[in-house]
Amino acid sequence: MTRTYVVSGAASGIGAATVRHLRDEGHRVLTLDRTPTDHTGGPIDVVADLATRPGRAEAVAGVQALAEVVHGVVPAAGVGGFTGTDPALVVSVNFFGAMELVRGLRPQLAAAGDGAVVFLASNSITGMPGWDAEVATLCLRDDEQAARGAASATEAVMVYPSSKAALAWWARREGVKPEWIGSGIRLNSVAPGKVTTPMTAEMAADPVFGPLGDSYPTAIGRDGRPEEIAAPIAFLLSPAASLMVGACLFIDGGTDAILHPISPAGWEVGPVEP
Ligand code: NAI
Repeated sequence: MTRTYVVSGAASGIGAATVRHLRDEGHRVLTLDRTPTDHTGGPIDVVADLATRPGRAEAVAGVQALAEVVHGVVPAAGVGGFTGTDPALVVSVNFFGAMELVRGLRPQLAAAGDGAVVFLASNSITGMPGWDAEVATLCLRDDEQAARGAASATEAVMVYPSSKAALAWWARREGVKPEWIGSGIRLNSVAPGKVTTPMTAEMAADPVFGPLGDSYPTAIGRDGRPEEIAAPIAFLLSPAASLMVGACLFIDGGTDAILHPISPAGWEVGPVEP
């Protein structure tokens, strides 16, 4: 069955790969980005800035003008927490931009009967110690002004994982409620590791974080490719993932497993080496 999907951040990287994957499967995909053309020069369907409230309202209205029923939303638009990035922007795009887009499209997702949302979290949630918990807390309280204020008191690199943790936790907290799963809408997240995209190219060029990128541990010995994130996203969107609710799927070539061999938590175990 042809389904209608919405992908933000569709002009580049993981978002663009997700659009390609879903279109190759024969689905209708509405693209959303702040730039009017994608990386191939093709047009973006809805051009809006998810950093601001009016921009998010434009994005929701733009999609609603094109589709009465939406089977899935992938809010992939995001900004990295690099040297010189405004930490408040990281909060506004990564958390509030994603969450408000999804909330605004809830009626269209409910109309599908089996809608699905896949948020872009990040394995920096578990891989990067010391990130700012207060920012995540304020995101989860839905207080953008306070979250932006707290973010501005620290560095963007410490705010990026906060924004991503808040997304994964929001999906879990809200996803089990009647207004989401009660309407058949499954909220899940993916937590990619380092994936080769324009965002990580920006990281490689960063004077502080660039040199650290080379020491990033993976079990498979290489960075990920955007299509390796797109395929699991497409699975989570599909009816084949009908039992998955509130999950956060790590897709990182083994980085999280290297750093946290005993996970998910839930039971204290003793030494486990043979
Ligand atoms: P990218 O930089 O290649 O693409 C991001 C897209 O978001 C761009 O097309 C950009 O125009 C759009 N965008 C940014 N700000 C926007 C705004 N205010 N309004 C509307 N659109 C906006 O990034 P990439 O690497 O493809 O990342 C996609 C998502 O995956 C992001 O949320 C990122 O945080 C997440 N992610 C990426 C990882 C990586 O290693 N590349 C790892 C973990 C998560």
